[in-house]
Amino acid sequence: MGQVDGKVALVTGAAAGIGKAAAMTLAREGAKLLVTDIDGAGAERVAADIRAAGGVATAMAQDVTDEATWINVIAKAKAEFGALHVLVNNAGVAVMDSVLTMSLDKFRWQNAINIDGVFMGCKHGIPLITASGGGSIINLSSVAGLMGAPMMAGYCASKGAVRLMTKAVAMECAEGQMKVRVNSVHPGIIETEIWAKMVAEGVMPVEGANTEALQATDVATALTPVGYPGTVQNIADGILFLASDASAYMTGSELVIDGGVTAR
Ligand SMILES: NC(=O)c1ccc[n+]([C@@H]2O[C@H](COP(=O)([O-])OP(=O)(O)OC[C@H]3O[C@@H](n4cnc5c(N)ncnc54)[C@H](O)[C@@H]3O)[C@@H](O)[C@H]2O)c1
Repeated sequence: MGQVDGKVALVTGAAAGIGKAAAMTLAREGAKLLVTDIDGAGAERVAADIRAAGGVATAMAQDVTDEATWINVIAKAKAEFGALHVLVNNAGVAVMDSVLTMSLDKFRWQNAINIDGVFMGCKHGIPLITASGGGSIINLSSVAGLMGAPMMAGYCASKGAVRLMTKAVAMECAEGQMKVRVNSVHPGIIETEIWAKMVAEGVMPVEGANTEALQATDVATALTPVGYPGTVQNIADGILFLASDASAYMTGSELVIDGGVTAR
């Protein structure tokens, strides 16, 4: 018996990295998946992988900053599966730049994906989750939502916003008897493509790191007590826990999975 048997799950940013691992893991554990990404072809590939492994999945192209698309995505979950129980607001970007040089456009672009996307997921997802008998929303924050880091002012601002929005929405859902639990996940340094995409021109986040092709391992070696980066499966396992009834009494809380980064 799977840990999320019979549930319907929506994962955003599911074409790659943590989102892909979360989608594959939830499907393996019995959930039916709607996988979305701004990279629609990538989302289709992940849905095909899930089906090839014996699971149930449908894909949609979705830019999480677009409200009309959110309405269509939630309608698709209802039309295709008749319900929604798990929403993983995973899509996110990371801009690494100094507060002195980062453009306002870049700051706003990052916030639109990392904050507005989570807001609209909650706004449009909650009514269907409640109508489906209840469920769980999992918002991807970061250790950067718990502590500051140089060259990360914009990213820390966006992930700090996700952390407290999660708590506020959790309280609203609890007080309104909406039967929706809302928690945030705080990954440390995880081996994904986000690191290679992150680097702004001339920014040297860690001494000795190669800014042409920044690797999670370079950063993890310098900053993580355990000395190595986490895997996408480490985070997917935490997401699975929050999606499943094993976490039935958890809402408004923070699941930190960081190899000790925030223990310093
Ligand atoms: N990798 C890490 O070390 C790490 C650490 C802490 C938090 N996180 C967070 O975890 C989440 C996933 O990160 P990842 O490392 O897997 O990143 P990734 O870059 O590997 O994957 C992110 C996915 O999001 C998609 N995406 C980007 N913009 C989008 C948009 N506007 N609409 C829909 N999809 C969009 C991308 O196409 C990609 O498939 C992010 O919220 C990130 O901030 C990652």
